[in-house]
Amino acid sequence: MTIALIPGTFDPVTFGHLDIIERAARQFDEVVVAVVAAPAKPAALFDADERRAMLAEVTGSFPNVAVEVFGGLLADYALARGAAAIVKGLRAVSDFDYELQMAQMNYRLSRVETLFMPTAPEHSFLSSSLVREVARYGGEVSSMVPPEVARRLKERFAS
Ligand code: PNS
Repeated sequence: MTIALIPGTFDPVTFGHLDIIERAARQFDEVVVAVVAAPAKPAALFDADERRAMLAEVTGSFPNVAVEVFGGLLADYALARGAAAIVKGLRAVSDFDYELQMAQMNYRLSRVETLFMPTAPEHSFLSSSLVREVARYGGEVSSMVPPEVARRLKERFAS
């Protein structure tokens, strides 16, 4: 059985992430969406359990997708889960430099390959950070995130 790991912060999950998850689920027997517990970035809007719960809800209809929270090195987690590959979406050339560096580091640490999947063009401008910013100021994000996520964003910024 081939397992692919799709790691990320998912703060929150967007239609761009969902598209990559769905397409990877057609290529691998099992996809594990690996939510990083403690992101390297400034404080997350949603804690790890909230990010996991949103992902579990929006991927619930995919029978071969599981959502898990991990801590520590992704390379160690990939080995522990027996992953054949790490799958990452690439939106634009600007993503490539850092993604390449991470892919090479993860390969050095674990010998697990990273496979890049081009983001669907209709989602290529989407990022969780921009979605958070638009939602923070009351902008419409319903074409960018699933309804459950839009609802949670509204709730979070109302409080
Ligand atoms: O969605 P993001 O924020 O681009 O995801 C980044 C993520 C979670 C994939 C990366 O920060 C990561 O792998 N973190 C775990 C710690 C780790 O292994 N760091 C070394 C990466 S080479």
